[in-house]
Amino acid sequence: MAEKFDASHASKLENPARLVELPPAKLVQLLRLTGAETVIDFGAGTGMYSLPIAESLPDGTLFAVDEQQALLDRLRQKLRERPPAGHVEPVLSLDDHVPLPDGAADRILMINVLHHIYDEPVALAEVTRLLAPGGLLVLVEFARMERPVGPPNDHVLAAEELHAAIEGMGLTELAAYEPGEIGLYHVAIVAQKPAS
Ligand SMILES: C[S@@+](CC[C@H](N)C(=O)[O-])C[C@H]1O[C@@H](n2cnc3c(N)ncnc32)[C@H](O)[C@@H]1O
Repeated sequence: MAEKFDASHASKLENPARLVELPPAKLVQLLRLTGAETVIDFGAGTGMYSLPIAESLPDGTLFAVDEQQALLDRLRQKLRERPPAGHVEPVLSLDDHVPLPDGAADRILMINVLHHIYDEPVALAEVTRLLAPGGLLVLVEFARMERPVGPPNDHVLAAEELHAAIEGMGLTELAAYEPGEIGLYHVAIVAQKPAS
C-alpha cells in the first residue's frame, strides 16, 4: 500500500512558492468554474488550494475532504482568519468513507493525492462515487523529471499509472498537460464521468 502523508510535514504544504509553481488560476481554468459549482478538493490537506479556488466560487461550495483531522483543523483556523468568497466546508473522511451523497460534486480536484491512493481501490471508488454524472475530475501530480522540489522520482507515478488509475475509475480522459503547461513541475489530467 502507498505511504500515508505525514501530517508533521503540513508546513511544507503551506509554502507560498507552491502557488507560483502551480497557480490556482490555471486550476480554475481546468475545472471550468463559472462560480456556482460544488467542488470537492479531495485530499485537501491544509486547504492551500481550497481557499484560492473558493474565491472563484462566490455562489458555490467547496468541500475540503481529508482523512487527517489535524490538517483540517489548520484549514478551519485559516477560514476563521480570512474567509474566502465561496463557502468552504471541511469534511473528514473516515476509513475511506466521505460523508457526502453520491454525485455530490460537479468537479473534483486532486493535487498530489493520487500517489497516496492509486493502489487503494476503495479510496478510488469513493472519488468516482462522489463525482456527479458528467462531472469533471482534475488530477494533478508531480511529473517524473529533474525537479528542485517534490518527492524523488521513485515516489512519483509514471504516466501509464496515471492513465490506468483514471481508466480503473471508469472515467474518460479529456485532456492531459505536461510540465510547463499548467504547473512547472506537474502533470495534469482532466477526466469526465460518463453522463449516465
Ligand atoms: C501531499 S498532501 C496534498 C494536500 C493538498 N492537496 C495540497 O496540494 O496542498 C496529500 C493529502 O492527501 C490526503 N489523503 C491521502 N489519502 C487520502 C484518502 N484516502 N482520503 C482523504 N484524504 C487522503 C492526506 O491526508 C494529505 O492531506
